[in-house]
Amino acid sequence: MSSVPVLTEAELKLLQALVYQECGMHFDERRTHFLQDRLQRRLKECQLDSFYSYYRLLISNKGKDELSRLLENLTVNETSFFRNKAQMDLFHKHVLEEILHRKQERRDFTLRIWSAGCSTGQEPYTLAMMVADGLAYYYLRNPLPYDMPLPKPLIPPPWKVEITASDISYSVLRAGQEGIYTEAQMSAVDYSYRLRYFDKVGDRYAIKKALKEIVHFDFHNLKTEYLPQRNDVIFCRNVMMYFDEPEQRRLVDKFHRCLNSDGYLFVGHAESLLGLTEKFQMVHRDSGTAYQRVEVKS
Ligand SMILES: C[S@@+](CC[C@H](N)C(=O)[O-])C[C@H]1O[C@@H](n2cnc3c(N)ncnc32)[C@H](O)[C@@H]1O
Repeated sequence: MSSVPVLTEAELKLLQALVYQECGMHFDERRTHFLQDRLQRRLKECQLDSFYSYYRLLISNKGKDELSRLLENLTVNETSFFRNKAQMDLFHKHVLEEILHRKQERRDFTLRIWSAGCSTGQEPYTLAMMVADGLAYYYLRNPLPYDMPLPKPLIPPPWKVEITASDISYSVLRAGQEGIYTEAQMSAVDYSYRLRYFDKVGDRYAIKKALKEIVHFDFHNLKTEYLPQRNDVIFCRNVMMYFDEPEQRRLVDKFHRCLNSDGYLFVGHAESLLGLTEKFQMVHRDSGTAYQRVEVKS
């Protein structure tokens, strides 16, 4: 095939609707160019002669892998360690501290955090480092009723920490699971964090085994209902911005159901729950923002 066929308005609409239905991503006028470009690349790769044939492939049973590949090509995976420092400080200094205190009083020693749309893992690993530090600091001031075994575990028993890191893209999940980062990706990680939580492997940095063990990478499409439950905190940053308002509302409702009472939701710097829901209350400290779940009568 020499040249890529023209994408007609009708074909574009069909494909736009399919992508929206499959993963919630909405391509408005500002982003149709990007969608067109990615569709053209996929069509060429599949060696098909029209976008309608490509659409037919995507909706067929044998097109499931190609549909995943297309969605993967449409995601924006930009991320970094300690992204949005003010928000991370809010999590570390206030939210985590409050949750640990509340749970300790109830003698509930499980902490569940979900990084939804985790990309290559920098967000969930940042959270894991903060939780490990937070627990160590907490027990400096509130000593445990027993002697800590040596070498000290990262998470002091009886605490159990589970961080679920999920994404719709298999390639970013694989990279997160591998947990190896370049010097450029480590720019926001200071010396003390590098020393405690990374091993130097050649010119790259690998997440230490003990930290890796508390982060579990898993495929979850936020468009579906089958999502991780009973979380104390959900981070879903820079994901909702690719959804339209009805889809954002549905997602925020799902997060409400996936959170324990008084749990917290963190969204991206350019995202807000304002006007979307009454089920969360904004918490704001030192330029960091989060949303706390509010109980609602159904
Ligand atoms: C811009 S990255 C954000 C990464 C990280 N949360 C952060 O803020 O640094 C957005 C991620 O959301 C994922 N994503 C997009 N749509 C999704 C969906 N429907 N379900 C799950 N993940 C999705 C993308 O694959 C991508 O890795």
